[in-house]
Amino acid sequence: MTRTIKPLVAGNWKMNGVKADLAIAAEVAKGHDAALRRAVDLAICPPATLLFTLTASLIGSRIATGGQDCSAHDSGAYTGEVSAPMLVDAGASYAIVGHSERRTLHGESNAQVKAKAEAALAAGLTPIVCVGETKDEREAGKALAIVRKQLRGSVPDGATASLVIAYEPVWAIGTGLTPTAADVAEMHEAIRAELGRILGKATAASVRLLYGGSVKPSNAVELMNVANVDGALVGGASLKAEDFLSIARACA
Ligand code: PGA
Repeated sequence: MTRTIKPLVAGNWKMNGVKADLAIAAEVAKGHDAALRRAVDLAICPPATLLFTLTASLIGSRIATGGQDCSAHDSGAYTGEVSAPMLVDAGASYAIVGHSERRTLHGESNAQVKAKAEAALAAGLTPIVCVGETKDEREAGKALAIVRKQLRGSVPDGATASLVIAYEPVWAIGTGLTPTAADVAEMHEAIRAELGRILGKATAASVRLLYGGSVKPSNAVELMNVANVDGALVGGASLKAEDFLSIARACA
């Protein structure tokens, strides 16, 4: 953790969740008691179809919501896309951009991720910019270089200290595998340093650096105690209220 930064635990529901699953968010809200609220910020990023209803259901809870992606464009002939102003209209505060599933399955480049992050910023959202190396890149000793390059290519111009970066090693997502605490420490320190070169040291010092990839209640305490880890981006475990809360408590 970074002592001066309030951690953020964000749940990425991915393509999971229908109306009945609003109950998960309600249970998270019930467990987000005063002590936890003081210690940790929480956000849930549901599928776009649920964003408006879920945000409305959380009014008064202080749990924020976010989109899982956003278009680089504000409106127009982009069938199937959801724009940043639309996310804002639905009540979102955050937009995840550059998730590895978007980079891999939809071929998103660093430049596209940057354009999306800039659209998010312009609409008043906080972008959660995801970076992370593949297994082959890690084994080839290129993890730090790849992530530095992703940061240089995808951090939006005009980013302030409210920016969020999520380091998610691709090989750790949904696999149950996690890097060692030492590897996470090395990467997060490198990310902070690279952000310092991009945004200036003072701004970079306040940016929240989340770790994501197979975060579970059983490994959260260890991962969240690593230097420069200011919270988590949680996939699978965010679909179980108790697990999500227990990860949040690990940050508290
Ligand atoms: P996971 O996913 O927690 O299921 O590994 C993390 C993510 O993709 O954000």
